Amino acid sequence: MKEVRLNNGVEMPLMGYGVWQIAPAECEQYVSEALKAGYRSIDTAQAYYNEEGVGEAISKSGIPRQELFLTTKVWISNAGEEKAARSIDESLRKLKTDYIDLLLIHQPFGDYYGTYRAMEKAYKAGKARAIGLSNFYDARFVDLAENMEVKPAVVQLETHVFSQQVKMRELMKEYGTRLMAWSPLARGMNNLFGNEMLKEIADRHGKDIAQICLKFLTDEGIIVIPQSTKPERIRSNFALDDFELTDDEQKAIRRLDAGHPFAADFNDPALAKYLLGYDKQFNPNNQK
Ligand SMILES: NC(=O)c1ccc[n+]([C@@H]2O[C@H](COP(=O)([O-])OP(=O)(O)OC[C@H]3O[C@@H](n4cnc5c(N)ncnc54)[C@H](OP(=O)(O)O)[C@@H]3O)[C@@H](O)[C@H]2O)c1
Repeated sequence: MKEVRLNNGVEMPLMGYGVWQIAPAECEQYVSEALKAGYRSIDTAQAYYNEEGVGEAISKSGIPRQELFLTTKVWISNAGEEKAARSIDESLRKLKTDYIDLLLIHQPFGDYYGTYRAMEKAYKAGKARAIGLSNFYDARFVDLAENMEVKPAVVQLETHVFSQQVKMRELMKEYGTRLMAWSPLARGMNNLFGNEMLKEIADRHGKDIAQICLKFLTDEGIIVIPQSTKPERIRSNFALDDFELTDDEQKAIRRLDAGHPFAADFNDPALAKYLLGYDKQFNPNNQK
């Protein structure tokens, strides 16, 4: 599996398995499936409420910890230096590990400067091998990157063939920050799986549309974390090493970029309000 070098020298797999919206009780089973298929990088978050399932799967897998790469994210309800620090320790406990490979601020809301300071401390204490951001765009990203000592190693953003994040990739270059794609298959939005041009390319290579999209993104050096609950798709999404896209195919796919995200606009006040109330609404521990 190909790896990329982050701005602090840490190597990270280009391909990982994402577990958003996987129910806590099922998470262990799907992560075990992904590990069997060869994935070594898993993307979870405090607000997926399934870190324990990831921890169970990795501890039972028998795979040496240093061969695995775990990403988790600090949620808004844990924002601020002290709360974030406590939540990082809690994530370590749930993940059954003494370090997180990549620790991100999940959303650009709340006291994220305090959160980042807690993450810098965790990084220096060896509790995180790399730290970064998720859903920080434009000036918000630059402001944090300029002001903090440890430059973000990664920014995770909605990225797929219809939203290729060209502007953010340019901005991030200055800090050596790497793009990690969430929803790399666009969750099927914009009729991705019915796109005729992608289907033609896929047929030419004897592959499917998901494989073409993931190949395109990883060729661009973008880290991807596709999610599937179907074992055959978990396997096929990972099988990208036996074909190459031509220059013309890559150019054609670049032209699909609409230049804006489809799932989430982080300047939308309604999205901010929804995310600020998310933990109260969805945390299973709040509903007992
Ligand atoms: N930082 C953030 O704010 C943020 C936000 C969203 C997501 N994420 C992360 O990114 C990960 C991936 O994003 P995502 O889950 O939103 O979307 P995605 O990976 O783009 O798409 C997942 C969807 O595509 C389907 N699918 C997967 N492989 C397929 C294939 N080969 N052919 C056809 N359909 C396929 C899956 O259905 P089946 O299960 O039926 O296969 C699922 O409905 C998440 O799990 C999470 O870790 C982060």
